[in-house]
Amino acid sequence: MAECPTLTTERLVLRPFRVDDLDHLHAIMTTPEVRASLHLPAEFSMDGAWRAMLSLSGLWALRDLGQWAIEERGSGRFVGRAGLHWRPEDDWPGVEVGWMLDPAAWGLGYATEAGQRAVRYGFDQLAQDALYSLILPENTRSQAVAERLGFTPYEERVLAHFPSQAHMVWRLGRAD
Ligand SMILES: CC(C)(COP(=O)(O)OP(=O)(O)OC[C@H]1O[C@@H](n2cnc3c(N)ncnc32)[C@H](O)[C@@H]1OP(=O)(O)O)[C@@H](O)C(=O)NCCC(=O)NCCS
Repeated sequence: MAECPTLTTERLVLRPFRVDDLDHLHAIMTTPEVRASLHLPAEFSMDGAWRAMLSLSGLWALRDLGQWAIEERGSGRFVGRAGLHWRPEDDWPGVEVGWMLDPAAWGLGYATEAGQRAVRYGFDQLAQDALYSLILPENTRSQAVAERLGFTPYEERVLAHFPSQAHMVWRLGRAD
């Protein structure tokens, strides 16, 4: 059973979630930009943010992987989350790399910087042969992050947990 490690990059601290992140996480998840990208309901509640945080944190205990809370090194400001994800359904391709930032912190390269560290963790610590990212076709900003990290489109797939629309499965092999 792994604990979420604290990692640093040039401009960011990737650390475990804390209870006092909840208000910030909820504020980010209720911005119109993030709600639209993640198809969250207009009335997305504090309870929804709390459950999201529990599930992101709980993966570390259950699967030895998960996402990190992202803090700016300079200011200590909570700017979002990024890291690794996994679901138990048969159609889930493997270990996923994902990201979500406060729109106030878009356009700074933070998702790419955190994503790079998560990719390294997936290959070095988790010994994965390939990593995946599941992105809706309309989410061009997320696709751009995946491309900057070296992922390439692999196949379109309708996932059991999100049946309304096909996701593109992006893939990055260890050798790539
Ligand atoms: C997806 C998401 C994280 C992308 O955020 P982003 O800020 O566009 O991506 P990055 O943090 O990598 O920043 C890249 C941008 O910063 C710029 N940039 C500035 N300084 C930079 C630096 N030092 N290094 C890299 N890029 C830098 C890049 O040129 C690029 O700008 P552009 O958007 O004008 O092309 C964000 O849109 C988001 O949170 N969306 C909602 C949640 C979501 O959809 N998650 C993914 C689900 S699949």
